Amino acid sequence: MSVTDFLPQSYSSQIETGEVTWRSPSNIALVKYWGKYGEQLPQNPSISFTLDNCHTTTTLKFQKVQAQEIIAFEIYLDGVAVPDFKPKIATFFERVVAYLPFIKEYSFRIETSNSFPHSSGIASSASGMSALSLCLMSIEKILQPEMTADFFNKKASFLSRLGSGSACRSIEGPLVVWGENKSVSDASQIYGVTYKEEVHSVFKNYQDTILLVDKGEKQVSSTVGHGLMHGHAFAKARFEQAHENLEALTNAMRQGDQETFIKLVESEALTLHAMMMTSHPYFILMKPKTLEVIQDIWEYREQSGSKICFTLDAGANVHVLYPKSEKESVQKFIGDRLARYCQNGQFIHDQAGLGAQQIS
Ligand code: PMV
Repeated sequence: MSVTDFLPQSYSSQIETGEVTWRSPSNIALVKYWGKYGEQLPQNPSISFTLDNCHTTTTLKFQKVQAQEIIAFEIYLDGVAVPDFKPKIATFFERVVAYLPFIKEYSFRIETSNSFPHSSGIASSASGMSALSLCLMSIEKILQPEMTADFFNKKASFLSRLGSGSACRSIEGPLVVWGENKSVSDASQIYGVTYKEEVHSVFKNYQDTILLVDKGEKQVSSTVGHGLMHGHAFAKARFEQAHENLEALTNAMRQGDQETFIKLVESEALTLHAMMMTSHPYFILMKPKTLEVIQDIWEYREQSGSKICFTLDAGANVHVLYPKSEKESVQKFIGDRLARYCQNGQFIHDQAGLGAQQIS
């Protein structure tokens, strides 16, 4: 499908007022998206586990008004108005209005809340932007009831991408691929698709415990971070490597090859950070405790034979990944050895999930 397929022709139905609610999860990339071009298009393919417990719930209330050029909306987080969120949402509305022309004829009240603590350093943009996109799609579905479920999901992912690139991988699960590549034939540059190839049972119901090592504000916004890949000395090699790593990772997941999975996932995390350390200007987004966590994970793996590994987002928090069969032992290790590195001892046990859900 191409961008023009998401431009609606006309609406066959009407509605004056109403509300819709969606709960949408965050996701954690195994092969990372870092570098974009054009209108939020990825320089390389990525694959992620959709999460389950880390999610945003958004209710979108809408009321028909005189058609207007600037979309009228208010936004509330946990019941409190958050004007700071408005510029990002206004930009999102500007980007999507061509694909959702009805939004000019409504005013909106967005009520949102996250399952994870605010300012936890967990990216809420993936869950937040996908939840809002799904709400908008639910309204479009009311106006165009003949829309198929497949189109609904693809367009929801397409719109989410325009809000925050990685958000396009939060609609479905447990594994989602975004960006054309030779291993996944239906993958697209403009939306995420569920990974449908065979996955060995050891990678089913994978666990992810997020260690809140540093809950501060992001040092570098992802917009700035992606921008640093323009003219980066290692960019070309990195984009090619992501293709190779995706192919190797999908083979490892099919074969149940946990050693290769671990090597690829950890290397991807460190490469993401290496890109930031070698850009101009340069950044170190890990904290000393991030490195201590990594050392302890490696030591534990060496001593116990566990298949535990880590990955990182563009920040200091650590995602600890492990098979479901090791849930009890690894969670004990986390409580005994890793909790001490977390701010206020905070961590969140999560797992791969099936994607967003409409709340009636
Ligand atoms: O979705 P964005 O533009 O915030 O980019 C986030 C990219 C990473 O989280 C660092 C990696 C990824 O693929 O999710």
